[in-house]
Amino acid sequence: MKILVVGSGGREHALCWAFAKNPDRKIYCADGNAGIAEIAECIDIKPTQIEKLADFAETEKIDLTFVGGESALALGIVDEFEKRGLKIIGPNKQASMLEASKAFAKNFMSRYLIPTAKYQVANSIEEAKAIVKSNFFGKSKIVIKADGLAAGKGVIVTDGKEEALEAINQLQSIAGQEATQKIILEERLIGKEISQILFCDGDNFVLMPPVRDHKRLLDGDKGPNTGGMGTIADWNLLTDEQREEIVENIVKPTLQGCKKEGLKFKGVLFLGLMLTEEGAKVLEYNVRFGDPETQVILPLLETDIFGISEAIANESLRNLEVRWSRSSAVCVVLASKGYPQNPQVGACIYGVEDVAKTKDIFVFHAGTKRNEKGKLVTAGGRVLGITAIAENIEKAIQKAYQSVEKIRFEGMQFRRDIGAT
Ligand code: AMP
Ligand code: GLY
Repeated sequence: MKILVVGSGGREHALCWAFAKNPDRKIYCADGNAGIAEIAECIDIKPTQIEKLADFAETEKIDLTFVGGESALALGIVDEFEKRGLKIIGPNKQASMLEASKAFAKNFMSRYLIPTAKYQVANSIEEAKAIVKSNFFGKSKIVIKADGLAAGKGVIVTDGKEEALEAINQLQSIAGQEATQKIILEERLIGKEISQILFCDGDNFVLMPPVRDHKRLLDGDKGPNTGGMGTIADWNLLTDEQREEIVENIVKPTLQGCKKEGLKFKGVLFLGLMLTEEGAKVLEYNVRFGDPETQVILPLLETDIFGISEAIANESLRNLEVRWSRSSAVCVVLASKGYPQNPQVGACIYGVEDVAKTKDIFVFHAGTKRNEKGKLVTAGGRVLGITAIAENIEKAIQKAYQSVEKIRFEGMQFRRDIGAT
């Protein structure tokens, strides 16, 4: 059995690890990192080179391809593979619009009465400014968003009209011209954030454990936004009532809406939610696993990910019992000096081998590589994710930080309060 995982970060390491639990499988990863290279054959094709990936899958007779990130999905990797009769897990290009265009996603939510922040879509900077100056948002504060994919840099949360006008001026230079053809203005919601991710086969779905991400660089949710500095997965992050409300008001109407519009959603759907006083509201859809959400979800998954992937592909999720551990998981991200603005790379990493041998600890590599002497060095902004699982969140936090203390590299940054907020 040959599996291809597309991507190179901590999420993809966790995916390769989950597939590699069965030693009879040969795992390939495009294009991987030093940790992935220990369990998979890394191939030198970028996730955006979708035709080359399909050529590879054809030549190597890959049985199943699983896509990690949004860039390949938005380019239509699923359409390309399916055109050639290759089995691949992920939504097609059209369904990926739920992530690739925030205007598309907001209009979709509004058509299906899915709870989300009040919004307007502007087609120019001038129009966006006029909306800020109007009374559309009343007393609410405003969030300014780029329409397109912007690698986590497309959202500016503001504290007042002046700041919102300034944010509109800056958005293009931060998120790039391509992503800012349209600008979304949203009412700023207040509450706790939750990532609720699910497997979907177009009709049926399976909820994963809820996750809290910690997006800011520094303790106490201070400093710049990042791709995510740590996560916790814990069933108690949502009450049963909240879970039910999310299923009824958000998950079901989303999947029904997709079906109605011919966007069969097969793959992993990620709901970025704000738990407000009025109930859960959608901040964003992602059409893939989260990073570093995956690093706390997959260690809790007891059912084989290959079986789940097959059920998604065959549209038979309904017949599969997906089992999860009731334990809690914590992932602490170790980042390079200068991350997120200007990460420095090439620092030697010490202590990983010992930590990786610890029971209930998982070391997921993100930006790592081997230098010419074979030494493990940093190669990106987020370097490692250290995941611990335990019977409750407090114990998992303690275990994760005990391991973090054993790892070091020059300029290593991490938050000391993952799970505390
Ligand atoms: P997004 O990429 O849309 O998830 O936005 C990135 C982050 O911006 C989210 O995780 C939230 O912390 C924040 N955010 C986005 N939209 C809103 C909103 N309407 N109200 C408050 N915060 C928001
Ligand atoms: N951790 C947030 C994301 O993957 O989009």
